Formats: sequence, C-alpha cells, structure tokens
Amino acid sequence: MAGQIPQRFIDDLLARVDVVEVVGERVQLKKAGQNYSGLCPFHQEKSPSFTVSHDKQFYHCFGCGAHGNALRFLMEYDNLRFPEAVEQLAARQGMDVPREGADDPRAQAREKKRQQGVNLLELAASFFRERLPMAEGKSAREYLQRRGLSPEVLRDFGIGYAPGEWEALKRHLAGHGIGDAVQVEYGLLVQREDSGRSYDRFRDRVMFPIRDWKGRTIAFGGRVLGDAKPKYLNSPETPVFHKGRELYGLYEARQANRQLERLVIVEGYMDVVALAQFGIRNVVATLGTSTSEDHLNRLFRLVGEVVFCFDGDNAGRKAARRALETVLPLMIDGRQARFLFLPEGEDPDSLVRREGSEAFGDRITCASPLSEFLFEQAAEGRDLQRIEDRERFATSVLRALERLPEGVLKSLLLRELSTRTGVEMARFQALLKAPEPAGDALSRDSGPAGENGGENQAERSSTWSGKPRGGALGLMARTLQLLVHEPRLVERLPEELDWCADNESDGALCREVIRLLRAGRYRSSQVLLAHFHGTAEGQRLQALARRELLIPRGDRGVELDGLVEKFRKQASSIEPETQIERLLAKQQGGEKLSSDERQRLMDLFKIVERK
Ligand code: UTP
Ligand code: MN
Repeated sequence: MAGQIPQRFIDDLLARVDVVEVVGERVQLKKAGQNYSGLCPFHQEKSPSFTVSHDKQFYHCFGCGAHGNALRFLMEYDNLRFPEAVEQLAARQGMDVPREGADDPRAQAREKKRQQGVNLLELAASFFRERLPMAEGKSAREYLQRRGLSPEVLRDFGIGYAPGEWEALKRHLAGHGIGDAVQVEYGLLVQREDSGRSYDRFRDRVMFPIRDWKGRTIAFGGRVLGDAKPKYLNSPETPVFHKGRELYGLYEARQANRQLERLVIVEGYMDVVALAQFGIRNVVATLGTSTSEDHLNRLFRLVGEVVFCFDGDNAGRKAARRALETVLPLMIDGRQARFLFLPEGEDPDSLVRREGSEAFGDRITCASPLSEFLFEQAAEGRDLQRIEDRERFATSVLRALERLPEGVLKSLLLRELSTRTGVEMARFQALLKAPEPAGDALSRDSGPAGENGGENQAERSSTWSGKPRGGALGLMARTLQLLVHEPRLVERLPEELDWCADNESDGALCREVIRLLRAGRYRSSQVLLAHFHGTAEGQRLQALARRELLIPRGDRGVELDGLVEKFRKQASSIEPETQIERLLAKQQGGEKLSSDERQRLMDLFKIVERK
C-alpha cells in the first residue's frame, strides 16, 4: 500500500462514521443531554469528564484535555499511526483505502523499503536470540548468568547476543535478500566514510531489543561483556526509532500485567530486567535521555501513577529536579507522581539483589509524593527561620505552582505553602499567574540549569516562569475559532473578504477556512480539521477547537457580525494609498480581483486624485 491517502477520501470517510459509535465500542457512554459522557480512557478518573458530541463529531475530556475526531480517537486509544487508523475506520465501513500514485513505481519502492525495515529488525532480533544458546554465545551466557538473569526473563525480554565478527549479521541478512543500504539506514550496519565499506554495528555484545507498543522490534541496545567503552551501544535515530520518545520495557510491562496502575521509571536496561527478575514488572527505562513530556504523556495514558527512581547522588538530584519540572504541567487531578531516591552508590539492579523484592517494593510504595519533593526542593539550602529565605522559598514554590494545571492538587499545595510561611492563602493566589495550558510548547528534554554546576534556586525558579502563557485570543483568532466550532456561521459572512487581511496573524488561515467552507465540502468541524491534519495550520485550528467558546449558541452569529464590523472599520481607516497598493499587489500576485474589489480600487483612485 504505497502512497498518500487522498484527502477527499478522508473527508468522505469521516462524514460516514459516527464518533459516538467508534468511541462507544471502547468506552461505556451514557447519553447526557445533547452529548454522551463516560470515564475518560486517557487518564484515570472516578467521575466522568469525557464527552462525545454527535453534532460536532468530536470527543473532549474536560479533565485531561484529550480531544479530537474518530480518527484521532483510534490513533490515541489503539496507538495507531494516522494511515493505520484510516485503514481501520475504512474497514468497518467496508471501504478500500485508495492511495495516490499507487501505481507509481517510486512510491512502490518506498513502501517496499519500509516493509523491509520492519522486517529486517525482526530478523536481526531473532538472529541475536538464536546466537545466544550457540557455542559462540558461551561467554554472553556466562555473563548473563553472573548478573543473575533466568532463562524466563531472557525470553520475556528477547535478550540475545551479537557475535564478535565484523559481518555476521550483515551476511545473515544478505542471505534473506536484504541489501546493505537498508541495513545502514536502520542502524544495524555502520558505513565507513572513506571506503564506503559497511560492517556490523553490534559485535560481541549482549543485545536488548527495544520494542514498540505492539511488540515490534524498533531498535537495539547492546552491552559489552567486559569493561570496554562504550558500555552500552544504542541504535541511532532511524525511520522507526526516536530515542526521546521510546521507553524500554513498556511493552514487556504491559504483557506482564494488563491492569497496570503504576509505572516506575528507572535509568538502565539492566535495572528494568533485574527488577523483572525479582517479580517487579512495572518498570520502564528511558534510553539514556532524561524523561520527556512525551514519555510522561505516554505513561499517564496507561496508568494514574508514575514513580521516578533516581540515584542518591548529585546527578540523581539534578535529574529529579528536571523530572519535577517536566511533570508539573501534566499533573491534572487523578494523576500521581512520586520520587524515589536510592542510597548512594546503588542502582535498582544492585539494590534489589541486595535487599530483595519486598524491601524494594516498600521503597516504591513509600516514595515521596510530588508535593513533598517540591517543598523539600524549595527549602533546600534555606533557613526558613529567616524572612528573606522564606520569601525565596515561597517564590520558588509559587513558580512551580504556576506550571500546575488548575485542580485540587494546586489548591492543596497553596494551602500548604500558606501554612508553612504563615502568609494568607489569598495573598499567594493573587501572586499566581495564569497557568500554561497543559501540553503546549512544554516538551523539553533537557534540564534548565545547564551543566555548570552553578545552579541555585533563583536560576531554577526563573526557568519555571520564563515561558509564554496562553492568554486571551486575538480578534482574528476568535473569528477563526467561531468558524471552527460552528462552520455554518460562514453563511453570515459578507461576500467580500476585504476585512480579513492576509497580513493579520491568522488572517490568511481565516481566508483559507472561509474559502473551504464556501466550497461546500466542509460543513463540519471534524472534516475541516481533517483537511488540515498534520500541518501547522491544523495544529492552530485544533488549538482553537479545543478552547471552549463560552457563549451560548444563539449569540455566536451576532458576535461574528460584530467582529467583521470591527475589522471593516480597521481596514477602512488604512490610508487609501496603502489599500491601493495591497489590491494591486494581490492582482500582480496572480489573484483575480472580485468585482467588488475592482470597484473599490476605482473608488480609491478617485479618492487619491481628489486629495
Ligand atoms: P548505567 O551506566 O547506569 O548502566 O547507564 P546500568 O543500567 O547500570 O548498566 P549495568 O548495570 O552496568 O549493565 C544507564 C543507562 O544509560 C544508557 C543506557 O540506556 C543505560 O541503561 N547508557 C549508559 C548508554 O546509552 N551508553 C553508555 O555507554 C552507558
Ligand atoms: Mn547497573
């Protein structure tokens, strides 16, 4: 199946399916007024804040902000990529998904290569697994045994061995008809710059396959048996592997337990595997990066509670502060984050072996809640008997609170801050700036404080407040928002679009939307959004669709009329010379002027002549 899916097919598909049905098959929905509601499948909750609208063909969760149309729902819920979701929806309608340029040999070649990519990683994984029990795998077997790993755990994690030869895997894959180029592309071979010769990336290493949510191998980590450097070698970024997004062990954790409630995040491959060996099978590891918002979003979709596990040393504290900062905006009610610090010099692997699974399990259960860690952090190095220190302490906590979404947790923390400082809660409330909308522009992998070691509270707290905030919408954005929520309103707009200037921010997009709505094929929000799917404009429209309109349906038309009136006034207050220039520029840009515009141009010339 090569090629792009034509947009008109997606439009058509979305017009035929009912989001209420699609969601209803996976989430128990109850009719509630105009809409349907139920427990949100994307975060843990006890009372329903998830609604599905038949009219708008949209779902929206007031708790976590998840929202979208039927396609988006399938993508999120079943973890599908866009084309996969389209395939699935189409299948239930008995429709075949057409592909643009399906007969194009180049597109066919591309698709073949993608298939090959998936295939070859799977082939490589079996190759490594098969080598382990062979004669050449002896030292690896001994190594794994020394590290205390049982055959069951090796099997569950698909652990294998890459032989210490230059071309073992390369030859094996060649035997399956797989060429060098694609092996290089998927990170299995390294190509020498000078000679162009390629050889196996992983040699004489214990191999950990990294799997995606479906269990497909997408990359590898390989550990040396001895002390050579680098200790771990990972696949590079490839078409299917993005290090900052993947979590080692997530597939295996879900396999071991379908009803996960909590996930523990550790640093290393070995930590995940060793804890599994001790029966603690709800553990994942980031792949040598710090925990990103992407990672956390993924985890919170599965569980309500995330426990960060850190080494007890300085690097560990620093990583913890980073994690705290990343997790704050995601802490909607119903989610929990906790922080576990290990004794110095230990990692989960060494510790669980020393003290056993029960003691380690207790550490997890007793890990500091976010609130505790946050206050502890803010108080570090401060003498809270001193007024100045108390002020800095409070400021630091406030900066953190600003990043928290509204909710019970925030109120409780404010109250706690008030108790600890002896300052009335209302005073703090007044000092709080509006929170950022969760999930927008917040994904940061790297920590705030830099690597210079000179970090202090003041620097840190300044990074907590240094982000732009979502405020009131501009007038053009509001216009666009009204149209996105209620495309029918387009009928009220004057024929002439002279009020909607291209140079206004959102102006060009607004024109485009109006044009599409007028063309007639886009009469519902979801089809409109699907049209822009995957583009920057699409994101802009999604963001506007997500914001509630906050005015009754009956008043929307009048508001829109008022907006257009305002724009018209603004436009006519522009110097006639400028207006002429714009119209001429438009004409020269190849656009035809409408009859109204031509008339306007003539009038403007007259005005200028008379001057
Ligand atoms: P550690 O050095 O703490 O490894 O690196 P570990 O998991 O305790 O490994 P063992 O116990 O010595 O086998 C933690 C993680 O950092 C990444 C890997 O993801 C590793 O699991 N890392 C580390 C690398 O990517 N490359 C390296 O050379 C070292
Ligand atoms: Mn270790």
